[in-house]
Amino acid sequence: MGYHQTTHRVVPDGRLTLNPRRAVTSAESWWQTAVVYQVYIRSFADGSGDGVGDIAGLRDRLPYLAQLGVDAIWINPWYPSPLADGGYDVADYRDIEPLYGTLAEADLVIAEAHEAGIRVLLDIVPNHSSDHHQWFVAALAGDPKARQRYHFRPGRGPDGEQPPNDWQSVFGGPAWTRLPDGQWYLHLFAPGQPDFNWENPEVRAEFEDVLAFWFDKGVDGFRIDVAHGLVKADGLPDGGPGHDAAPTLVQHNESHPAWDQDGVHEIYRGWRKVANRYAPERIFIAEAWVPNNERLARYLRPDELQTAFQFDFLRAPWRAEILRTVVDDAVTEAASVGAPPTWVLSNHDVTRTVTRYARSQPDHLIETDWERTRWAEEPADYETGLRRARAAALLQLALPGTAYVYQGEELGLEEVEDLPNDVREDPIWEQSGHTDVGRDGCRVPLPWSGDAAPYGFSTGATTWLPQPSNWGSRTAAAQDLDPDSTLNLYRRALSVRAATWVDAGELEWIETAPEVAAFRRGDAQCWVNTGTAPVNLPVGAEVMLASVAGISTTLPSDATAWLSAPGS
Ligand code: GLC
Repeated sequence: MGYHQTTHRVVPDGRLTLNPRRAVTSAESWWQTAVVYQVYIRSFADGSGDGVGDIAGLRDRLPYLAQLGVDAIWINPWYPSPLADGGYDVADYRDIEPLYGTLAEADLVIAEAHEAGIRVLLDIVPNHSSDHHQWFVAALAGDPKARQRYHFRPGRGPDGEQPPNDWQSVFGGPAWTRLPDGQWYLHLFAPGQPDFNWENPEVRAEFEDVLAFWFDKGVDGFRIDVAHGLVKADGLPDGGPGHDAAPTLVQHNESHPAWDQDGVHEIYRGWRKVANRYAPERIFIAEAWVPNNERLARYLRPDELQTAFQFDFLRAPWRAEILRTVVDDAVTEAASVGAPPTWVLSNHDVTRTVTRYARSQPDHLIETDWERTRWAEEPADYETGLRRARAAALLQLALPGTAYVYQGEELGLEEVEDLPNDVREDPIWEQSGHTDVGRDGCRVPLPWSGDAAPYGFSTGATTWLPQPSNWGSRTAAAQDLDPDSTLNLYRRALSVRAATWVDAGELEWIETAPEVAAFRRGDAQCWVNTGTAPVNLPVGAEVMLASVAGISTTLPSDATAWLSAPGS
């Protein structure tokens, strides 16, 4: 594989050239050590004043991202969409949702990000389209050729009144919806998200063309939504007793005919060939909730995808022994296929890290719906949650491989758990029969400045989800002025990471107390204390950065320190 070791910028004619302002720090390719910032565009920044984030807002805030020091951004779906699932219901893969802007603005933001040394990853949603996509509209109108692009089936039972199989939607309720003509169509998510039939060559050709459409615009890669779902087991068999429910987004612990079928890999071999036509290299990151890292590694074979999220870190409680196991497993499995481990503490689908760490920590990996519904009843200690989230960030950013930072993590935002029910937009709320509040609480528009909503997010008064009244101290502007703020911790961490960890080599654990996860990579060490008692740091080591102020010889509870310890 030919590695391009430099960053690029766009010259006016749209060609990519090398960006001389960014140093080449390693013998590896940029994406193997990148810090990628996730832009949930609806909630990042609003440039048009309608209370919804957009491309104009993102363009305005590129300097903020450059100052933060990220290598790339991943923009959640920005395509035309009726927003039945926050844009993961795409009506047209080659255009921009009017709420967010225009294709011309998309070109501009790609060019300006490149100019700032920031690569751009988009989100591609290949498992399903919107029910407003022209192919599905044609299918609904009865066009048999169009129906073959989706999964249409007669029902079971004498009058076909039972769904064709026992699959349940990830969001709750049956995974099938019946049409007035008696046929059923499959949707593993919301009814407005019909699943494509990937056995149909037209679907395959269409997506390869969509990839090329955006690659031609200079996009550096794609996050692949539900990458493990595209191919279903032949004949769409029942999951069987006890396996009928499609697992939640993070609970794919067992095999199921809807998920992770071997046939999916052929699709990604085709996608890789499309990417390989381009220079500088174009990359993929898979969102694949599979039972274990061994299954995940299959997506990362040399002729498939370059990276895949390792979600166990996002599910791990704040306990050193579990964190060590999760890190070991991720590093080992990624190494087995020559891929970088890919760390993620949170994203737009799960409870924000501060809140996840603000409650009791179980001794097993967490399932998000369990967390949302039952944990929300437990009082939250946000001070502890933030302290742990800052410590976790320094752990994440010291590890080998790539790190994804979800917007607002750098501000230490907590989950907004008290949204009024009537503003909830996540389809999980309705489809679960109001038993799961869903994911809106991690999608609240970012606070940028000021003491009251909309906190500089928008010039309009009303944001699409209301912001809490106590976010004045969380704004980027307020944190900019506070040297100990979470924002400034992230800025320093990204800069020290670039100078220290990116080239530091393999991880080696240091023997220490069970509640401590400590490792060295070359001359640098990372010490994480998840216990209640302080621990002694190695004598003679110099503290490069710590998640709490005033660290010298001991590391207090719920804190991380980065040490320089040459020769030890
Ligand atoms: C992915 C997305 C999630 C979306 C789902 C269906 O898991 O991250 O937000 O609801 O796919 O597209």
